[in-house]
Amino acid sequence: MKSAAEAPGWDATLYLKYGDERTRPGRDLVAQVPLADPRLVYDLGCGPGNSTALLAERFPRAEIIGLDSSPDMLTQARRALPAARFEAADLATWRPQRRADLLFSNAVFQWVPNHRHVLAALMQALASGGCLAVQVPDNLAEPAQVLIRDIAEEGAWSKRLAGAEDARQTIAAPQAYYDLLRPFGARIDIWQTIYQHALADAPAIVEWMKATALRPYLALLDAAETQDFLAAYTERIAGAYPPCADGKVLLRFPRLFLVAIRA
Ligand SMILES: C[S@@+](CC[C@H](N)C(=O)[O-])C[C@H]1O[C@@H](n2cnc3c(N)ncnc32)[C@H](O)[C@@H]1O
Repeated sequence: MKSAAEAPGWDATLYLKYGDERTRPGRDLVAQVPLADPRLVYDLGCGPGNSTALLAERFPRAEIIGLDSSPDMLTQARRALPAARFEAADLATWRPQRRADLLFSNAVFQWVPNHRHVLAALMQALASGGCLAVQVPDNLAEPAQVLIRDIAEEGAWSKRLAGAEDARQTIAAPQAYYDLLRPFGARIDIWQTIYQHALADAPAIVEWMKATALRPYLALLDAAETQDFLAAYTERIAGAYPPCADGKVLLRFPRLFLVAIRA
């Protein structure tokens, strides 16, 4: 069994089960990047290449490099976009060798330790007039997240799961990011969007969370415990997300967006 500090592997296939919904914030973020013709573009935490595809579509003349720490995600990204370049990197320490025009990241920095320090360092690594564009889920107070922590604390597994929540970084208030990036930025645009993803039913929310928030917890459980954990979670999710008239459930999902232009 892995320790909580050792991040469990990402599963590209499971992640892409809700690929359209997960890519939507990336689409909304790229739409706000105020660059006409960037030359060097990085997709930080490119995952299976879904966010990289958005960048390739918007900036067909740019050199685009996708970075990720997950071998499974990189394999899938290379398969999906053979023309793009993908490299293994840990964003906690990675810095561009050349001045980048766009550092883009959709749904990644909530997993990167000390992410605010990293964002400030990346901002400084941009070319003048370059752009740092970041989206992070700001959903730790949502029932789908709170219930994971509740169940982790209640079972016989509580001691073992005590550190699992540390894998996910707390997202600060918008002003903290504004104050962090403003000293380097000519223009800072910050906004929040709450998505309401219509999913088939309560088990669909569990499937969604299995690809992301549940990973650090399930990695510490054996097969029987995993089954028990998921059964308890599915029951409580059904109570917290009542069905709509057509039987679907709405997964409320707040996200924070930052677009900063280097002075
Ligand atoms: C939720 S996925 C986002 C994928 C894609 N950007 C998208 O728009 O859907 C998060 C990705 O961040 C990667 N990741 C997490 N921590 C990382 C780190 N420290 N360094 C590099 N990649 C990391 C994971 O491997 C995963 O592929």
